[in-house]
Amino acid sequence: MVRSLAVLAPALAAFLPAAVAHPSVAAGVESRTVAPLSCQLFGDLVSPWWLKACQSYLDLVVIDLRSADEYAAGHIPGSVSLPFEPVSAWSQMEGSLLLNMPPSAELFATLGSIGVSNPSPATKIVLVNGVADPAFPQAASPRVATTIKYAGISEGRVAVLNGGFLAWVEEAYPTTTVVPTPAAKTYTAVENRSFLVNTEYVIANINKKSQGIYLIDGRGTAVYNGSVLEQWASRPGHIPSAVSLPAPNIWNADGSWKNPLELMAQLRGAVGTVGILQARTTGKFVVYCGVGGYASSWYFTLTRILGFENVVMYDGSYQEYSSYANGTLPVEV
Ligand SMILES: *[C@@H]1O[C@H](CO)[C@@H](O)[C@H](O)[C@H]1NC(C)=O
Ligand SMILES: *[C@@H]1O[C@H](CO)[C@@H](O)[C@H](O)[C@H]1NC(C)=O
Ligand SMILES: *[C@@H]1O[C@H](CO)[C@@H](O)[C@H](O)[C@H]1NC(C)=O
Repeated sequence: MVRSLAVLAPALAAFLPAAVAHPSVAAGVESRTVAPLSCQLFGDLVSPWWLKACQSYLDLVVIDLRSADEYAAGHIPGSVSLPFEPVSAWSQMEGSLLLNMPPSAELFATLGSIGVSNPSPATKIVLVNGVADPAFPQAASPRVATTIKYAGISEGRVAVLNGGFLAWVEEAYPTTTVVPTPAAKTYTAVENRSFLVNTEYVIANINKKSQGIYLIDGRGTAVYNGSVLEQWASRPGHIPSAVSLPAPNIWNADGSWKNPLELMAQLRGAVGTVGILQARTTGKFVVYCGVGGYASSWYFTLTRILGFENVVMYDGSYQEYSSYANGTLPVEV
């Protein structure tokens, strides 16, 4: 199934220069009580311009995922701190499987404490990440977006600030050290696991490319081909038949998303035109990585930026696969 262009429009809007989309600002319109029309273009990626222009008109919860120290040194006015690392409300950070979805009761309580209610279509969430190389901070926002989806919030209510905190600073927009005190709300929902798959599912879908089912490995090529072993993997290599699609290539050097045509070209390089056509109809993309950050980055990019619907994520990822059944499952190098 193909998502309509109307659904994709907000994603594309994040790539437009602000001056084109918002001529009224250039004309010096300052005091208004009605939100600019462009504030309805919420979704997927938002620009610093959009956030600054629309923050006061909408019921937005802006969440800063950088470390507590970075937040304390200066942050976007009104944003609340909920760091992705080292201790995280967003993912399991200890135990046998790293970065798996957290227990939903704790997550619901955390979301309520920062002023997110559910159901409440009005409240929207904007995620703000740091930027670094390797791109782990960039992956934090899409990881949290998938965690929020798991928490039962519909995707249309969550966006990522394109380029993260760095993009805000590049615009010379104000930062503050004032810490807001959000009014706590009640958050109740049913967790949504429908886009998460387990090891049995992955095993059953090895070597199914002829049916349009592609296992997509989001780790770097040296990890994929087995020349580098990550600390959480018990054996080098990748899941048999998986194609390599390194997630660090999703972003430009400044941490912003590459444009959709470039991203589509990367995908075509990995699965071919046939794979893309199949995924638009009866096929499926199964994304995984080392522990779940880069898998989430492709999950977000494929579903939200490129409009694919048939995408699932292997939350346990290669950490779980490589040690499953006492490490007896086949791997490829
Ligand atoms: C759960 O996720 C599925 C798959 O993306 C989606 O179709 C469904 O609408 C979601 N359910 C809720 C309650 O958000
Ligand atoms: C594995 O990938 C790395 C990084 O791209 C490359 O330098 C290396 O030559 C590759 N090794 C093999 C055996 O393909
Ligand atoms: C894993 O190894 C343990 C100890 O040798 C054994 O008892 C168990 O049956 C094995 N499990 C699987 C799934 O092979």
